[in-house]
Amino acid sequence: MKFIKQFLYSLSFLGIVILSVMCKDEKKKEVTQKIEKVSIEKNEFGTTPDGGKVDRYTLKNSSGMTVDIITYGGIITSIKVPNKEGVSEDVVLGYNNLDRYMESSPYFGAIIGRYGNRIAKGKFSLDGKEYSLAVNNGENHLHGGIKGFDKVVWKASEETGEYYAALKLVYLSKDMEEGYPGGLNTTVTYTLKEDNSLDMLYEATTDKKTIVNLTNHSYFNLSGDFSKTVLDQVLSLNADKYLPVDNTLIPTGEIAEVKNTPFDFRKPTSIGSRIEADDDQLKKGGGYDHCWVLNGQDKGHRLIGTAYDPESGRVLEVFTTEPGVQFYSGNFLDGTLPAKQGGTYKKRSGFCLETQHYPDSPNQLDFPSVVLNPEEKYSSKTTYKFSTK
Ligand code: BGC
Repeated sequence: MKFIKQFLYSLSFLGIVILSVMCKDEKKKEVTQKIEKVSIEKNEFGTTPDGGKVDRYTLKNSSGMTVDIITYGGIITSIKVPNKEGVSEDVVLGYNNLDRYMESSPYFGAIIGRYGNRIAKGKFSLDGKEYSLAVNNGENHLHGGIKGFDKVVWKASEETGEYYAALKLVYLSKDMEEGYPGGLNTTVTYTLKEDNSLDMLYEATTDKKTIVNLTNHSYFNLSGDFSKTVLDQVLSLNADKYLPVDNTLIPTGEIAEVKNTPFDFRKPTSIGSRIEADDDQLKKGGGYDHCWVLNGQDKGHRLIGTAYDPESGRVLEVFTTEPGVQFYSGNFLDGTLPAKQGGTYKKRSGFCLETQHYPDSPNQLDFPSVVLNPEEKYSSKTTYKFSTK
């Protein structure tokens, strides 16, 4: 009897030991699988004329999304995401090599800084002192000037966690670079997650009072076929108002209702359905090239817009902490720039949703402030999230 009891005890002890070893193994497997889900890889991409080495980082998850980012301009050179059949294709315009980006690019995929969009005549004042910025767009300053953040080489570092792969880019812009006061220490962190979202966190500090307004200039074509225009792709924007512009695309100062205009995207509407309407503002922009005043400005990081391509089923949702978004319908693409897939980028073959403060804010006192003081930290977050339906 005693022997049987002892035998049973030993048997159950052995069982517990085997079970716990198996569980540990399972857990280990789970953790390794999680780590294997996201990855980041570094490759050489080219060299700038002054010998600067440019790398390309590839961020990958296990849901079929891949993002390529180069250290020149922090440019997103490719975003591959699945269509409704599960086929991953590239959905952002760009080039295959560095030379093309350096030769001529309408800011394809780039980080824009120090100031997203235009500042009238390149002039603004801070504490009674007038500053003159580089003028590079007719009489105006556009996207940070002649050598903006899109044309500098950023210092990169990588980080991976169980469910994310992140690329941190740092650039120190010197005092008076392109005419801006203050040394601006800037960090942009791209984070790819398992849910097919790409976070962009922009942070900056300054050693002198200055202005800052950072964004990303990706041109999307959700079809994955760059020979098509985006006119059949459907957009919704959570905005009751937008900013009408003058002939040089500087906001007039008026904050206009979108109601009963071709600028009303509160319900999903195809980009092309009203783009040729007889409308003074559309004529001034050559299509859509305006800043929408977003709703829910006190709500932090929230959904502000959705784009959808009915054919591929791809959906892009944009979340941001910013008060505005520049919706640009690729009007200046004119069939001269070579496309990644062959052929050229024709008019309206891509659209941009540039989350930002309003253009020309330093000269328009009614617009939310873009001033950054030395004791403050600039922080702005935008997310591109992909899915299908
Ligand atoms: C501007 C356009 C400009 C484009 C590319 C957009 O953000 O609003 O007017 O042509 O960027 O430079």
